[in-house]
Amino acid sequence: MSKVALITGVTGQDGAYLTEYLLKKDYVVHGLKRRSSSFNTDRIDHLYQDPHTENRNLILHYGDLTDSLNITRIIQETQPDEIYNLAAMSHVKVSFDTPEYTANADGIGTLRILEAVRLLGLSGKSRIYQASTSELYGLVQEVPQKETTPFYPRSPYAVAKLYAYWITVNYREAYKMHASNGILFNHESPVRGETFVTRKITRAVSRIMLGMQEKIYLGNLSARRDWGHAKDYVKAMYLILQQDVPSDYVIATGITTEVRDFVKMAFAEGGVEIAFKGEGADERGYIASIDEKVFKEKVGGEYLSAMSTKKDKVVVAVDPQYFRPTEVELLIGDPTKSKSVLGWNPEYDLPGLVTDMMTGDIKLMKRESYLRSGGYRIMNYFE
Ligand code: NAP
Ligand code: GDD
Repeated sequence: MSKVALITGVTGQDGAYLTEYLLKKDYVVHGLKRRSSSFNTDRIDHLYQDPHTENRNLILHYGDLTDSLNITRIIQETQPDEIYNLAAMSHVKVSFDTPEYTANADGIGTLRILEAVRLLGLSGKSRIYQASTSELYGLVQEVPQKETTPFYPRSPYAVAKLYAYWITVNYREAYKMHASNGILFNHESPVRGETFVTRKITRAVSRIMLGMQEKIYLGNLSARRDWGHAKDYVKAMYLILQQDVPSDYVIATGITTEVRDFVKMAFAEGGVEIAFKGEGADERGYIASIDEKVFKEKVGGEYLSAMSTKKDKVVVAVDPQYFRPTEVELLIGDPTKSKSVLGWNPEYDLPGLVTDMMTGDIKLMKRESYLRSGGYRIMNYFE
């Protein structure tokens, strides 16, 4: 008999990778997806199965974490062995604009799932994974951060996730539920949301190198993050739910890097060297040199002459609108427990992640540019 998993946030970055991973392990996967006025299933379209397919093993349900009745009905209908609660308003900066909604979806949404499992008498059957976050450490009280490090959240997002973390622990202790928190540090991929800093950078750098954009505006270039690859991190989620005893785990690489250095690494993928000058809002990044051989190989010879004219020009600037009212300056995790207890071992390091993201975005932007010019030609033809 195949195991049954329910994934909330199935259309998100992690939801897509986890779905792929569990389907390969022969699971039947039920996914909760929001109704949207335009298609929001891009990341899982390659896995989609038509509702008329016999014996489907990926089934999508409309739903929302703010709707208790809907959550309870779906859990009742699907009777999952494992629930991965990945759905959330996951953007830290946006949570300052939508604090009440964030608390409802990210905080109370977790309670709705736990309580539904309890009310339906599934406490002994359904194991629950809660997508907790390194944002809980916020104004860090210890370096590196581990499972025992005190929390100090710095945004409405992190405060909502703090509630979700503790209500998960509480239901585990009160009702003997197999409910665990994965305290995941930042993890990225070629399908990372476009407004998180890494993807914003890899998209913009690709566009700059292809002549589609002049420069990129960023916020705090000195923030440091412990970045891993989402493909590795969903494996940790799975491992957490395979343990006999539920518990909470830090999932991280143990290496931290400045946003500024991520920018340099992204440009270096195309052989472009960036130098930074100035401080704070006046800091600028400009093109110091271009390795033509690498550029031709990774980006394409036809883009080189346009790129060469940008030498010494500013391609990175700071816009204070991206600063946060309260910032998390430094995150670096200690993954000792997850490595020793779960046997979790990531395949990607940061250079591997940057290469994967840049390769994806250069390809994507070339296609976008081609479609645009193709679209223009077709319009002319009909005119
Ligand atoms: P993501 O790409 O932003 O995906 C979030 C998912 O949640 C999307 O499918 C989104 O649907 C869905 N969603 C949002 N609000 C919802 C609601 N009210 N009801 C139902 N679904 C809702 O996030 P991610 O990077 O995959 O992260 C997955 C989870 O891990 C999140 O809970 C995030 O907070 C947490 N986390 C992420 C990281 C990281 O670095 N990526 C680190 C630690 C923790 P739409 O597609 O319709 O928007
Ligand atoms: N988004 C964004 N845009 N961030 C910027 C920018 C910019 O233009 N410029 C600098 N940054 C800085 C932010 O201030 C922050 O310090 C850092 O880059 C990372 O920002 P994000 O990529 O937006 O991620 P995050 O760390 O705030 O949150 C992500 O990771 C958390 C885990 O620590 C999200 O995925 C959260 O959902 C997740 O919990």
